[in-house]
Amino acid sequence: SVKILHTIQALNTQLAQPRKEGLKIGLVPTMGALHQGHISLVKAAKKQVDIVLVSIFVNPTQFNNPEDLKAYPRTIEEDTALLLEAGVDIVFAPEAEEMYPLAPMLKFDFGYLESILEGAFRPGHFNGVGVVVSKLFNITKPDFAFFGQKDLQQVAIIRKMVEDLSFQLELVIVPTVREEDGLALSSRNRRLSMEDRAKAILLSQQLRVARVELLAGRSWFDIQIEVTHKFDQCSGVRLEYFELVKTNSLEIASEANIEQVDLKNYSLCTAAFVGDVRLIDNLPI
Ligand code: PAJ
Repeated sequence: SVKILHTIQALNTQLAQPRKEGLKIGLVPTMGALHQGHISLVKAAKKQVDIVLVSIFVNPTQFNNPEDLKAYPRTIEEDTALLLEAGVDIVFAPEAEEMYPLAPMLKFDFGYLESILEGAFRPGHFNGVGVVVSKLFNITKPDFAFFGQKDLQQVAIIRKMVEDLSFQLELVIVPTVREEDGLALSSRNRRLSMEDRAKAILLSQQLRVARVELLAGRSWFDIQIEVTHKFDQCSGVRLEYFELVKTNSLEIASEANIEQVDLKNYSLCTAAFVGDVRLIDNLPI
């Protein structure tokens, strides 16, 4: 059975014995509204650790848009059923008051890593991610922590944070899980109308098209223009960015440096509004 705990103290009590026995603990941080993408992180954790701990916390400090926070799906009953089935040992589901008795004063500045892509469109977002993930690391002291490649910039930032703050844990990055038609699984997908759900395939589709054309040697400048045009033609869809970046450093490829780019270290990244739902996706080359 799965233990559902709401306080740091209850979690400490629960983890004391396994820690004493030297069992390996794996943390899967989530915001709930779980789907098979989250479950693939759980499966990766099951393979690697003795105790799988999933946190469910809709972290208010990482929402730059209050409407998005309000609209974020909360499905704790379904979530716990899924996690029970997946064989998770512990669920940590704190209230906001438990995580933030007072508003945190500490601010993270990830410099270049948060100046581009998501960071440019969601001011303060990665500060909130940094604060909550470092708190979760300190609270749970995991041996391994599992994150999805779906959030490529989040991975780059957390990797740097682990290095900068000497967190004694190993990050495990899990590939993106997709629907049959290519749409990356996301908690936000359930907010799409049927019409918008059909339009949402544009993101993964254009990532795949761009990848093929890049590998065929076509000019990145031309590809970017053509993709932008494809998005413009689709009513109700609004592209925010479509970029080629170095997967770990997030260095952006431009017409000026594309000649020096070794495509195998690069990923295509995109974000777009489909109706009023903001979706992101990426594809390694
Ligand atoms: P959330 O969006 O719930 O995602 C939790 C984890 O699941 C993240 O590591 C994310 O990359 C991964 N994930 C989401 N969709 C996926 C998919 N289709 N395939 C594989 N993995 C997927 O990311 C967050 O929450 C928050 O920022 C968090 C790290 C929990 C901090 O609040």
